[in-house]
Amino acid sequence: MDKAQKKPGEPFFITTPIYYVNARPHIGHAYTTIVCDAIARRQRMLGKDVLFLTGTDEHGQKIERSASAAGTTPQKFADQVSSAFRALWDQMGISYDRFIRTTDPVHQRGVQALFKEIQKKGFIYKGKYTGQYCVFDELYVDVVGKGAPCPECGRPTETVSEENYYFKLSAFADKLLAHINQNPDFIRPETRRNEVVAFIKSGLRDLSVSRSSFKWGIPVPGDPKHVIYVWMDALSNYITAIGYGSPDAKDQQRYERFWPGTHMIGKEIVRFHCVYWPAFLMAAELPLPKAIVAHGWLLFEESKMSKSRGNIVRAETISEVLGNDALRYFLMREIVFGQDGSFSFDALVQRYNADLANDLGNLASRTLTMIGKYFSSQIPYPSKSMSHEKSDDTIAKLGSEVIANYGKLFDDYQFARALESAWSLVSAVNKYIVENEPWAVAEKQDDESRARLGTILYTSAEALRIVTALAHPVLPESTKRIWKQLGLGDITKVNLLDLKWGELPVGNKLGPIEGVFPRADKSAIERMQKMEEQNAPATAGAEEKAEDTPAGTGARAGQPATQAAGGAPSVAAASGNNQITIDDFAKVELRVGQVKTAEKVKNADKLLKLEVDIGTEVRQIVAGIAEVYPPEGLIGRKVVIVANLAPRKLRGIESQGMIVAASLADGKPVLASFLEEVPVGARLK
Ligand code: MSP
Repeated sequence: MDKAQKKPGEPFFITTPIYYVNARPHIGHAYTTIVCDAIARRQRMLGKDVLFLTGTDEHGQKIERSASAAGTTPQKFADQVSSAFRALWDQMGISYDRFIRTTDPVHQRGVQALFKEIQKKGFIYKGKYTGQYCVFDELYVDVVGKGAPCPECGRPTETVSEENYYFKLSAFADKLLAHINQNPDFIRPETRRNEVVAFIKSGLRDLSVSRSSFKWGIPVPGDPKHVIYVWMDALSNYITAIGYGSPDAKDQQRYERFWPGTHMIGKEIVRFHCVYWPAFLMAAELPLPKAIVAHGWLLFEESKMSKSRGNIVRAETISEVLGNDALRYFLMREIVFGQDGSFSFDALVQRYNADLANDLGNLASRTLTMIGKYFSSQIPYPSKSMSHEKSDDTIAKLGSEVIANYGKLFDDYQFARALESAWSLVSAVNKYIVENEPWAVAEKQDDESRARLGTILYTSAEALRIVTALAHPVLPESTKRIWKQLGLGDITKVNLLDLKWGELPVGNKLGPIEGVFPRADKSAIERMQKMEEQNAPATAGAEEKAEDTPAGTGARAGQPATQAAGGAPSVAAASGNNQITIDDFAKVELRVGQVKTAEKVKNADKLLKLEVDIGTEVRQIVAGIAEVYPPEGLIGRKVVIVANLAPRKLRGIESQGMIVAASLADGKPVLASFLEEVPVGARLK
């Protein structure tokens, strides 16, 4: 690709997150990529010069460990998974223009250039962090004192003292708030913007942007003992991929032409994109992204689809059974963009049958077949005088309205509503066909009936043309086929700005007619389910820690989970008053629970998975007590539970609370218990 040499329309730059290579792609990743692909395709049809970027995020301690667990080198490991992502996007017809890997030499050079630039501007400094570190979670944590328990997992933490490079994030709070205020479209949707504003207002601390505890990363320029913070490395892809930091003039031109762009992301990485990334760019005096648009999560079996939960569905399976367009349509039509949405095979097939096989498929096949049969496959003339009826005008009017509304909704990220509006035309025309009974009109031989038949079929074919053109970015493969059947050539050449009702050329010769959306039945569902069951868990190594954090925080393995954990040099973690008020304590909901089931967690010597009745419900809790407590001895035992702890995952298993235990000097736990009888669910205060 060399976009610098192409000179059509205005530039438009859109990006997906770059995906971690420790998990193989699933339809959660495909969701973001499909949305970007549809936007890119629409922008191309609006005459823009589009650059659509995607890629893989390959550095960090987790990848290093995953590789070693797989008995290979991090590079080879990354090569394998990165090519799996790329191959899937190719198979799915994703029209990306550039695929970046953070192990690409151009990226590494660009990241170092950005680091140096920020350093030169005085926003990176060397400092010492002294504080508590949880080895299990690989996190700096904001607790005080030797051996203090980790707020995440309750294990004793270690005091570490490490020299790191720090980014002066604290210097950018006001500027960030001002930018967000002045640019209401900078963070979409609004709920995410509010979260970010609240986060910034709560105070920003400087951020550690280097690590010396592992090697798999980009060396800090001039100090190769350290590697650059994985998020600084990853976020920079958005500019290094288009030429930032390259000495080549063509690369620089490309960067100048396309930056800034629009970032599409999942909601869990909002903070990195809306706070850290803009602050890095401000520090380097580079333009900020045009927009950061966050969507919700794709849920499967009620929780976020992710490798570590083991509840993934692969796009390959759906493509094989229903074709590439079925998943695209489902994700964009069924999910309210910005909110979480559930995936199920039943819902997928239902949507496919109702909207594609029935509505659009029927409109296409009956209209084209009748034009074939009654007008020798040539688009008939729509009579304006003879037997013209009001219902023809109603459809024409609706067609023009849909053209106007669809674009507005789509460009405002309201994809489901845009498609709904296009399908309102499909339904109206199907009804129009039934009501006008062209097959009955065709029985009559008089001129007036012939003219009427022409009008009905022209109106139907014109509506089909409009919907097909509008839906092309969402359904690229099937609309291409319908377009050919309409005899209209290459659909990608359509300029949507010129799309108007009534421009289907009379006399146009149809192409060969074929069904586009064969109906799917129960066996399609069974086939997909079977294919997914048979597919061994698509794991590539370690857990995905970044997915385990609540929306917006998005901690990354080996990196701060919260900004406090980001570790301002020595300060807060090591100093301060260790007392809390009674109100602070009241925030912790401690309850009596009773263990219902207990089992060892595979490949984790210390962990037990428990089901604990806390009176109102049964919670699944993962506890690090296996070395001391055999599972069978725990059944029926009363324990103390922290009931309002945000759920988190340990070894990929969700833990909905924490068991309270004393932690002995050797790290061994002793469960808190009662001498008197206590009812299950009783609160401790
Ligand atoms: N590598 C980082 C991103 C760095 S960007 C500079 C990362 N990678 S990831 O592999 O975990 O991908 C996260 C992204 O994949 C999400 O933000 C989202 O775009 C997509 N999704 C992964 N699982 C998803 C769902 N279950 N639902 C919706 N989107 C999902 O974070």
